[in-house]
Order: sequence, then structure tokens, then C-alpha cells
Amino acid sequence: MHRQNSAGSVRAANSSGLQRDRRIGLLASGARGLPSGMIGDDATHMGAALALARRGLGNTWPNPSVGCVIVNNGRVVGRAVTAPGGRPHAEPQALAMAASAARGATAYVTLEPCCHHGRTPPCTDALIAAGIARVVIGARDPDPRVDGQGVARLRAAGIKVEQGVLTNEANDVLAGFRQRITTGRPLVTLKLASTLDGRIATHGGESRWITGPAARRAAHALRARHDAILVGVGTVLADDPDLTCRLPGCRPTPVVRVVADSHLRTPLTARLIVTAQETPTWMVLRAGADPDRRRAFADLGVHLLAVGGTPSGVDLRAGLRALGDRGITRLLVEGGAQIAAALLRDGLTDRIAWFHAPGIMGGDGWPAVETFGVDRLDAMPRFVRRRSVPLGDDVLSEFVRQA
Ligand SMILES: NC(=O)c1ccc[n+]([C@@H]2O[C@H](COP(=O)([O-])OP(=O)(O)OC[C@H]3O[C@@H](n4cnc5c(N)ncnc54)[C@H](OP(=O)(O)O)[C@@H]3O)[C@@H](O)[C@H]2O)c1
Repeated sequence: MHRQNSAGSVRAANSSGLQRDRRIGLLASGARGLPSGMIGDDATHMGAALALARRGLGNTWPNPSVGCVIVNNGRVVGRAVTAPGGRPHAEPQALAMAASAARGATAYVTLEPCCHHGRTPPCTDALIAAGIARVVIGARDPDPRVDGQGVARLRAAGIKVEQGVLTNEANDVLAGFRQRITTGRPLVTLKLASTLDGRIATHGGESRWITGPAARRAAHALRARHDAILVGVGTVLADDPDLTCRLPGCRPTPVVRVVADSHLRTPLTARLIVTAQETPTWMVLRAGADPDRRRAFADLGVHLLAVGGTPSGVDLRAGLRALGDRGITRLLVEGGAQIAAALLRDGLTDRIAWFHAPGIMGGDGWPAVETFGVDRLDAMPRFVRRRSVPLGDDVLSEFVRQA
């Protein structure tokens, strides 16, 4: 059912979100430099729309997080991001805020507006009906139901359409949705926290805490921007984690916790299991796992995804597809070492977020990534560094897979 917010409630929702983003440092510079009502150029307004879109990451699956800013005579008259759960879309919310000021205005949208009748009416029709004169688009929609047809429909209605404004940035925000649409699986980011020599625990298993408080806060901010977090059962047995985002007010929807556990070795008393009614817990298991145990988990509210097996555990490629089938677009993998090795070996790691703490543990510490049989340099998965950020004494480096 399409929910139409009043302009007031949209404004309230957006301003509380902005406060949240300032707290966790997610706002792009474009939005900071754009007080409502100031004249700005196309890139500035698209930058503001992208900042809104980044704010929705993790909360809009299975839909993409889209930002929309409406500008009339240099004044920002409407602005919105896709609502939690993916509906309503950004455009009708921003149009509701703009009301009659939308007539003759320019709409900056980070993603090509949809033109098909899904669970909400087409956004192209809403823009046309509101009298929008010009639409500036960040990224084209990879969904075959749209892909260029949204632009064509707007143009056919006499609206001027511009493309190619901050397209790389828009595609970056869209990466999870694009990955799911084009490959059927979510975008996979592997998060690791290690010493400088890549160790995640002492030989005795002590691992808390290798990094300092600033790095741990940044790790929670990463959780805030993902739809789901996955760990292997080894990590559940060792650490009994909550895998929740514990920054105050950091996300309006709960993150989905996922465990790769072939034979359901996870204890029924694990935190992830006993809290499954409030915060979703899904398990990727082998199709042949014990039916009694499956029933026990299902009775506790755990969602079970049965896939085939491999010598190392569950078939992760199939497991990721099962997550994609259920709408997950952005997956954060938090270890442990065996899951990390399996994902890297199988070419299933799109991005890495690596927190390095300035300590050295030596070769008897636990490696961040288990052995996975690289015997030639050209067989090694390679990544490109996008940025490094100091966090207290630690450093967060972000990498993307080399094309
Ligand atoms: N510092 C950090 O960033 C960090 C993060 C996470 C964990 N840790 C540490 O890492 C340690 C746990 O790591 P771990 O390597 O033992 O455990 P893990 O990678 O979390 O889990 C490994 C288990 O996952 C299951 N699995 C299912 N499918 C798999 C597949 N395709 N490939 C590989 N495994 C699969 C296997 O058990 P089944 O065969 O029974 O399914 C396997 O034994 C703990 O000490 C924890 O504290 C550190």
C-alpha cells in the first residue's frame, strides 16, 4: 500500500535523519554546503540528493536508496530519501513537500525515476503530474523494467532530462542494488579488524579488543549502512556476538543477522537465536541438516535458507543468491577467517573494509584470512584502495575489487 506522507512528516523524518548522520559523520560535503533556499548548480544539488541517498543505505532493501531534491528558482522546495522498507519512493515524498512549488521546478534524482506499475505508482507520472519542467538524473536504473524507459517517458511528456551529473558517485550509492539486479546476489563487503601483521586473535584466542573505541564506532557505522551482516558459525561459537548496530538512533530498521552453519552447530541459547523474534536472524545451512534441529530453530523465529554443500561448508555462492532472492542488496561479512578465505577464493568479495591496529602479534596469532591455496601471484585476488582514514591510533582502509 502506497503511503503518502504529509509535507510536515517528511520534513520531520528528514531532519531527524540529518541529525543522526551528523552524529555518525556520514554526510557528504555537498549537503553540508547547501542550506535550504540557497542558489546552487546542478552538481551541488545532485550532491545534496546523494547525501540523502547515502543516509538510506541499509534501510530500503529490496529497493535502492534514492535521494531527490526539488529546486524552484534557486530555492530548495522539496527533499526526501526512499522511506525505510523501500516505500514510498523519494520523488513522491519530495513532491509532497514542494506542493505547488513543484510546478516549473527542477528535480534532482540520484536514480532514473521508475516508470512501471509496481507496488507504488510510477514516479515518472508523479513528476509529470506535478508540472516538473526539468529532471537531472545521477544514474540510470539497471532494472530492465526501467533502464532508459523512465527517461523516455519524461521526455515524451515534454520534460527536459539531463544525465551524467555525479554519475560515478550515484553508481557507488547504487552498487548493492545493481549487484543484485545484475548477478542475483548482494554486494559483499568483507570487514576485518587486525594487527598490522594481519592477526585477529592471540594463539590463545584473545581478540577483544584489538582496535580502539573510534574504530569500533566506525565498525558500527558500517553496520548501519548494510542490509545484513554475515558470520561463520566459528565466530558465533567463539564470540557469541549480537551483530546489532549500537550507535544510538543509527538505523530505523533492524539489520538482518546471517550465520553460515552447515549442520546447525549454533547453540539454541546463542544471542543471535534468543533475540531472533526482535531482530531477524537467518541461517544458511546444508539442505541435509537434521530436521529436528531445523524445527527447533524455526520455532525460535529463525529463517532457514537451505543450499548445497562444498568441502568447506555451505555453498556460499548459492547462499548469497538465496539472500539476493529475499531482497538483500548490501551484505557486510564480519568473519571469521574461514569464511573470509572462502569468499576471497571464490571471487565473492566486492569490497574490503580493513581496520588496522598498530600492534604486531607474530605468526602464532590467528590470521584474519585462513589459507586458501594461492600458489601464483597472478592468482591472488587484488583490490584497489579507495581511501584510508585514521581513527585514533587505528586506520580504516577501504578497497574495491580490481576490475
Ligand atoms: N577481529 C576480527 O575482525 C574478527 C571477526 C570475526 C571473527 N574473529 C575471530 O575469528 C575466530 C573464528 O574464525 P573461524 O575461522 O574459526 O570461524 P568462521 O569463519 O566464523 O566460521 C567457520 C565455520 O563456518 C562454517 N562454514 C559454513 N560454510 C562455510 C564455507 N563455505 N567456508 C568456510 N566455512 C564455512 C564452517 O562450519 P560448518 O562446516 O560446521 O558449517 C566453518 O567451520 C574467532 O576467534 C573470532 O573471535 C575475529
